[in-house]
Formats: sequence, structure tokens, C-alpha cells
Amino acid sequence: MATLSEKEAEAYLDARPRYPIDWFKKIAAKTQGHNLAWDVGTGNGQAAIGLVEHYDNVVATDINEAQLKRAVKHSKISYHHTPKDMSEDEMVSLVGGENSVDLIVAAQALHFFDLDTFYNVAKRVLRKQGGLIATWVYNDIIISPEVDPIMKGLVDSTLPFRTPIMNLAFEGYKTIPFPFESIGMGSEGKPVTLDIPHKLSLKGFIGFLRSWQPAMKAKEHGVELVDEKLISKFEEAWGDENQVKDVSYKAHMIVGKIPEMRCESEDINKDLLLQTEVGKKQERRQPSDDEENRQSKKQNTSEDEEC
Ligand SMILES: C[S@@+](CC[C@H](N)C(=O)[O-])C[C@H]1O[C@@H](n2cnc3c(N)ncnc32)[C@H](O)[C@@H]1O
Repeated sequence: MATLSEKEAEAYLDARPRYPIDWFKKIAAKTQGHNLAWDVGTGNGQAAIGLVEHYDNVVATDINEAQLKRAVKHSKISYHHTPKDMSEDEMVSLVGGENSVDLIVAAQALHFFDLDTFYNVAKRVLRKQGGLIATWVYNDIIISPEVDPIMKGLVDSTLPFRTPIMNLAFEGYKTIPFPFESIGMGSEGKPVTLDIPHKLSLKGFIGFLRSWQPAMKAKEHGVELVDEKLISKFEEAWGDENQVKDVSYKAHMIVGKIPEMRCESEDINKDLLLQTEVGKKQERRQPSDDEENRQSKKQNTSEDEEC
């Protein structure tokens, strides 16, 4: 993500929604522990603040200091700047150490990350038992029948400037890799779609457009998509400039856990069951010597290792 200037960071703070409290409630109800949550790419703490209700400690990190300066303060949240060159080991220990985090949240941020590096760290810090990782992105906003067609025109005009990173967001995380096991709240390739209700003023909306990545990218190419002419059109369509509107952001969420390690003996038992059912009338198959050896070896191992 291009680093936001002070002015853009200010506009970002005005316009971005906080997330529905019941999202945090539902996700937190599915983590086993409630000691530590990590909000990564926290921005101004929009997700971190939703976590304090459910976790004793929230570590919130971001690569951008301008964003952190404006982050919402809370005694349970500790904010940390994590520069790009921070090593994976440093990151793991800053967040809380191996196998320590009950919930990782990447809100509106995952598509900016180097995913291999992030997932390496996430898999190390996340609790193997009962830990969850949740991510979401919002990529559309429903305002009013007058404003929405103008917004659609603006969205279409960003096409030549979209980067692969932006496309991950435009595609609503349907194409983002997410190597975790589903817990029934979306899965890799199949996020669940949710609404974020939000109250938006005209000033906040214009701020949102000005801190909007695709528009900023076009600007880098010398094209001002959100120019004065377009702003006038939006102002006219908005109606009363002091009116705060009830709007809805369309969000896409995936929650997962570390894939469970499966024991070899479970596979052998499943094989046997399958074959027994297929050949119901056939005599029950006896395990081969080799399978028996593997099973008895595994039984011994499972007593020691709690497979
Ligand atoms: C669109 S903002 C989302 C902020 C906030 N989570 C929210 O929900 O509004 C994306 C944030 O990710 C941060 N970011 C981008 N790349 C990052 C990285 N590699 N590590 C940490 N934060 C990163 C940006 O600085 C920015 O604050």
C-alpha cells in the first residue's frame, strides 16, 4: 500500500467504518482462549477497538506510522510500528511468541501483505489449539439511488490503474490464498458476504474517495479521477450537504484455523471402514502385516504424542 500522507491519513480516519460488534462477538465465541488478539495492518485501530471487549490484550501493528498516530487509544491495546525490514523472528516475539495468539484479525489489509511472510508468522504465533485467523475486505458502498450510479462510473474509471493487489480487494477475497481450515465462516475461494452499516457525511464520503487506493494510484499516473467536477456531481446527488446518510459497505469475510495434524492411524482406520462398507457382502478385510505394524506403532506413538 502506498504510504498515506498526513492529510490522506486524516481523511482515512474520517471515512472508514468501524466493524459491527456482533462480528467480534461471533468470532470470539469460537476461539478457545481470550488472552491475546493481534490486529495486523491495524490502521487507526478500527478492528482493534472491537477486540477489547473479548480479549485481555490486543497487539495492533502497522507498517505506517502516520496511521498509528491517529489510532484510537485503549488501555488494552498496544500499538507497534512494524517496519518492512523486520524479521519474522522479531515479528513473532513482538506479537507474543510462538503459539500465543487466540485470534488474528487482518481487516481490510490482507491484500497488501507479502502473504508468504505473513502466513509464516501467523502460523507460528497462532495457538494450534483453538486459535483463529479472520480476514475481511469491503469493496463496495451503497449510498443512495442518486449517488450510486456516479460511484459506479468512478469504479469503472479505475480499471486501467488497478494493480493485482487491488484486484484481490475488488474480487472480494475470492482469489486470495488463505491456507487455513474452514470453521464454517467462509473458506478459501468462498468468503461470506456481510453488510457494514455506517453513518456517512458528505465530507466523510469525499474523504473516503480521496484516501481510496485506486484513485491514489491513478494520481500517481498523473490522472485525477476524483477531481472538482466529479466532487460537484457527488455534492449535487447527495442533496442536503449536512445530511448524514445511513450507508452500507459490502464486506467479504473468511475465518480459519490451523489445519489439524491428522494421524496416520486415522487414515488406516478410515481405509478399512471404507473398504468394509464398499464390500458389505464380502468378508471383512484383515489388515496386512504391514498395516498392522503401522497401526500398532501409531498406537504406541499416540500414547506419547497425543495425535
Ligand atoms: C486499508 S488499511 C486498513 C486499516 C484498518 N485495519 C481498517 O480496517 O480500516 C490497510 C492498512 O494495512 C497497513 N499495511 C500495509 N501493508 C502492511 C504490512 N506489510 N504490515 C503491516 N501493515 C501493513 C497499511 O499501512 C494500512 O494501515
